[in-house]
Amino acid sequence: MEAQPSRGAVDRRHVLAGAVVGSAAFLASARSAANAGTGGGAAFGAGAAPAIKGGVELPALPYAIDALAPVISQRTLEFHHGKHHKAYVDTTLELVKGTPLEGQELEAIVRAAAADKEKTKLFNNAAQIWNHTFYWNSLKPGGGGKPGAPLLAKIESAFKTFDEFKAQLVEAAVSQFGTGWAWLVEEGGALKVVKTADADLPLVHGQRALLTIDVWEHAYYLDYQNLRKKYAQEVVDKLLNWDWAAQQLG
Ligand SMILES: [Fe+2]
Repeated sequence: MEAQPSRGAVDRRHVLAGAVVGSAAFLASARSAANAGTGGGAAFGAGAAPAIKGGVELPALPYAIDALAPVISQRTLEFHHGKHHKAYVDTTLELVKGTPLEGQELEAIVRAAAADKEKTKLFNNAAQIWNHTFYWNSLKPGGGGKPGAPLLAKIESAFKTFDEFKAQLVEAAVSQFGTGWAWLVEEGGALKVVKTADADLPLVHGQRALLTIDVWEHAYYLDYQNLRKKYAQEVVDKLLNWDWAAQQLG
């Protein structure tokens, strides 16, 4: 059984980016940010086109179930997509049934739940749908390598070198204590590496996600056991979908 996300609101955010490496750890809860009025900032507000379109549903994987092997095995994807992701969908559907949120777009539900302290369970489940759908698209068979020139230039501007960016993303994945996510995001025109705890996600912090790595144990334990760093490094080197990342910047 998966650990239930903590409800504690740690109104503190650290960002791993450029010159501020080492002060990472994006711990601000979605709720604290939303309550502080920072959710959906000017750079990426509620009116922005959703990265994950559609309602509450379990999307098909964008590749065959065995296509990410050997980096991520078919068995991991069978559990991760077919059990964990599906459970978030089923729970969310149950929670919104008969409420004004039933039938709403997923992103609208995530934002509404983030802004309502009575909807922690809904936020956790709906956000995890969004996170997982984004994660599947952040990966592709034969991925890794480098992005195209425009995005590569932005990364080199933010991180000095592409290798430094990769090192920071892996470090974010490794250093997230417990469950969570490592992200490449854009905020205010700048690219950053951040990490979020549990189900928390950039879109409720005014950030635009470009790529993510799931660091919940269910994402890697069958294939790597406790070796989270090896999993993260393999994903960065061999699976990241730079086409998806570039699409997010429009
Ligand atoms: Fe996951």
